[in-house]
Amino acid sequence: MKDFKDKVAVITGGASGVGRSLAFALGCRGARIVIGDVDREAMEAVSRDLEAEGIEARVAHCDVTALASLQALADTAEEAFGAIDLVFANAGIGAGESGAMWDYSEKDWQWCMNVNVWGVINSIRAFMPRLVARNQPAHFVITGSGNGAMVIYPDAPIYTATKAAVHAITENLHFQVQAAQSPVKVSALFPGPHVVETGLFNSGRVRPEALKKEIEGNESGITSVDDMKRMAAEYGIELKTTHPDEVAEMAVKGLEQDAFWLLATTPETEQKIRDRAEMILSRKTPEPPMVGG
Ligand SMILES: NC(=O)c1ccc[n+]([C@@H]2O[C@H](COP(=O)([O-])OP(=O)(O)OC[C@H]3O[C@@H](n4cnc5c(N)ncnc54)[C@H](O)[C@@H]3O)[C@@H](O)[C@H]2O)c1
Repeated sequence: MKDFKDKVAVITGGASGVGRSLAFALGCRGARIVIGDVDREAMEAVSRDLEAEGIEARVAHCDVTALASLQALADTAEEAFGAIDLVFANAGIGAGESGAMWDYSEKDWQWCMNVNVWGVINSIRAFMPRLVARNQPAHFVITGSGNGAMVIYPDAPIYTATKAAVHAITENLHFQVQAAQSPVKVSALFPGPHVVETGLFNSGRVRPEALKKEIEGNESGITSVDDMKRMAAEYGIELKTTHPDEVAEMAVKGLEQDAFWLLATTPETEQKIRDRAEMILSRKTPEPPMVGG
């Protein structure tokens, strides 16, 4: 997609972080933006900020764990602006887990699976039938993570498991639109190349009451990127970070070229991907990769 002017872009989890930056990057290129998020306060703020930039936008409360909520978001977008051209299944949370996975509560797993995996499945089920039926060039972008899709970091087993599933879904969705000869393109967005300065590490702020934490003491103790930096420094690692605006620019440039991989890497992360492939091919017993790079 070369030109985003007057295109309609729906972004889940657009009230903060990567989704918010995507809204501005696309809005500044003339796209009309629809944001669905569970955080009402943050949505109001982003709505004001988009308006101040002269970007045409709608925000609507949307919980990606419920299919009906995403269908309502699709209706809102179509009623406001007409047919949808871009969908970003971006909403995601970090479960904030640490310690042995056999000690996590069912609710810890459920919350993250519901948002990160079912959120993507529900987004596909709500939007893909509309995009495919329209039979016009469109993009369906799924935010994954290199942690799960490419490398298995040892510190967040629930999150990593969800993002492994998300990548399998994304690549299969791409195969299916290709096989169907649909003009809808699928892309996999990997925020990075470093840890991105977003609210992900403080996801507890949007954890639903029904799935609230039951077991104390297995929290990671990290609730911000600064906490991560401090913790890394204790191990002598200087953690580099990326601003979400940089991620959004990288994504938009990739979409302009209809790229599947919206992926920025460093030599260190590329080496980790090679090491992992080599480890599998040589049947080497896995060793945890170092966080960062
Ligand atoms: N921050 C990173 O370093 C990083 C790295 C790789 C991947 N990601 C992925 O990027 C995506 C965006 O996260 P972010 O880093 O911008 O974090 P963020 O917390 O800043 O933004 C996530 C948004 O999703 C919303 N959300 C949470 N649960 C929701 C639900 N049930 N329904 C609708 N919206 C919901 C939140 O309210 C928030 O506005 C996620 O999928 C995340 O896994 C982030």
